[in-house]
Amino acid sequence: NEGSLWGGRFAGGPADALAALSKSTHFDWRLARYDIEGSRAHARVLHRANLLTAEELDGMIAALDQLEADVVSGAYAAAESDEDVHGSLERGLIERAGAQLGGKLRAGRSRNDQIATLGRMFLRDHARIIARGTIATVEALIHQAEAHPNAAMPGRTHLQHAQPVLLSHHLLAHAWALLRDVQRFQDWDKRAGISPYGSGALAGNTLGLDPSAVAQDLNFNSAVWNSIDGTASRDVYAEFAWITAMLGVDLSRVSEEIIIWATKEFSFVTLDDAFSTGSSIMPQKKNPDVAELARGKSGRLIGNLTGLLATLKALPLAYNRDLQEDKEPVFDSADTLEVLLPAVSGMIETLTFNTERMAELAPLGFALATDIAEWLVRQGVPFREAHELSGACVRIAEARGVELWDLTDEEFASISEHLTPEVRSVLSTEGSLNARSGQGGTAPSAVALQLARLKHELDAV
Ligand code: ARG
Repeated sequence: NEGSLWGGRFAGGPADALAALSKSTHFDWRLARYDIEGSRAHARVLHRANLLTAEELDGMIAALDQLEADVVSGAYAAAESDEDVHGSLERGLIERAGAQLGGKLRAGRSRNDQIATLGRMFLRDHARIIARGTIATVEALIHQAEAHPNAAMPGRTHLQHAQPVLLSHHLLAHAWALLRDVQRFQDWDKRAGISPYGSGALAGNTLGLDPSAVAQDLNFNSAVWNSIDGTASRDVYAEFAWITAMLGVDLSRVSEEIIIWATKEFSFVTLDDAFSTGSSIMPQKKNPDVAELARGKSGRLIGNLTGLLATLKALPLAYNRDLQEDKEPVFDSADTLEVLLPAVSGMIETLTFNTERMAELAPLGFALATDIAEWLVRQGVPFREAHELSGACVRIAEARGVELWDLTDEEFASISEHLTPEVRSVLSTEGSLNARSGQGGTAPSAVALQLARLKHELDAV
């Protein structure tokens, strides 16, 4: 069988059941162009090591170019009998270059160093695509923050009203998390940008081939320093899977909030028609399916990570066929995010905020109680006591069914002599927000500085 890369030592062919199990072309075919790119680089080091003449190199490159064109056009595809992308492409090369020349290419390389390298090439390209989609999502959050610079909303802990915050502050909290995911991809690339090509099956090659030259040819920063590590490790894949899972979780958290905000009870946001769906039975429905799919798909991204880690656990060095299972999870994570991110960024970009309702709710639920306590601290009252006094204000207001600012001067005075009518200066959303003006706080002035810093970091990625 021409698509097979081995067979010399076997008397008969593989059982159909083995061939069916072993086959990977249905998922590794998408590495075909990386495989051919690797082959061109490999041909050039073979030439540099005097294992291909200049003429042979030209013939090899021409055949590989032709093969690539045929793969792209679909004129050449994996055959039923091909085990994997590498074997199939060697068959295609031999069809174009002849067995004499085509049969020389495999010298000094193994599918083990090939596949480890091609996977990194694929992941580096897709990390860039995913990072761009993530940046677009960060930008959508920034646009919404800039469009609502002074809008207040209830800040929550435990999903309960806690303290008023600016809507822009809240949105930018999601932006920072997503920006870190982009930065993580950049940092990851330092480790992904090291080429395993030249490691051979596990121990290197005897033919004087220069791994650094191949690495440079394939846009890697360097070649691996240990051929066993080069062929056996997949931590770079696992780290990619972790970053994509973390990104999925970050998208899920902003999505969950949008789902809640879009309920009748909250009525904080209206989804654009283009980013919401209807119901087949309930004519009135407008559903946040984009956000729900983001939430759902984050589970799938986490599954890809944990599945891959389970595959890697306890594998002895060096290459084991288990490693063929490394590809589908990371391919799926890349595919998932590449369709998800444009929908999420579009949904955020087109959200309409009901800022009036958000502002109305911002100080409710005694969300200004901390402001009373901290006002008392500024009057010299120890915080421990101030906390108690403010708590007493809440108790009285709650019993009367009113808000803190509805308490009378007499009621304040009955709680403590320190609670003079001046306390009312902090009993407004605006006062509460403005007071939190330190770095990272929710005061409009602090959020303006924050936004500038965020944009600065975004420009640097
Ligand atoms: N299809 C294999 C993989 O994805 C390529 C390497 C196979 N190597 C081997 N010695 N059988 O990992």
